[in-house]
Amino acid sequence: MPLASVLFVCLGNICRSPLAEAAFRAAADAARLPVEVDSAGTGGWHAGDPPDRRAIAEARRHGVAIGDYRARQIRAEDFTRFDYIFALDHSNLKDLQAITPANATASVGLLMDLVPGRAGQPVADPYYGGPDDFAETWADVSLAAAMLVQRLRG
Ligand code: 4NP
Repeated sequence: MPLASVLFVCLGNICRSPLAEAAFRAAADAARLPVEVDSAGTGGWHAGDPPDRRAIAEARRHGVAIGDYRARQIRAEDFTRFDYIFALDHSNLKDLQAITPANATASVGLLMDLVPGRAGQPVADPYYGGPDDFAETWADVSLAAAMLVQRLRG
């Protein structure tokens, strides 16, 4: 029985949310926290695809292999299956709120609200950016992952 189940959600599920999933898996493993983790996109255009190659490279730099992650679109049962659903930006959060079913039990929020001093901030979409943007994504999601581990431990 996991201590908590967590779903990270961005637009395509090929850049930001796979990195958030990877960072949180790594942080939870290091803390020996038994968690269930997944990620999804609000959109389904990339369903079945591996993460963006730049996201794979960024995760690899931090010792996490994500090449066998596969993108999927969020579905109604995610709102009862997971304890926490974290949106990577405001648009993702708005889209999640629009499809939250009446029987939802998950707590739905913005990822960076976990980080003191960063509340209300988005994790910027690196899709049209370069390697530096993916490094910034990693920095953001790993900060949030560390705070989430701390919170679940507490
Ligand atoms: P993600 O990035 O939401 O962080 O996975 C994107 C991936 C794909 C697209 C947009 C953002 N797209 O337009 O295909």
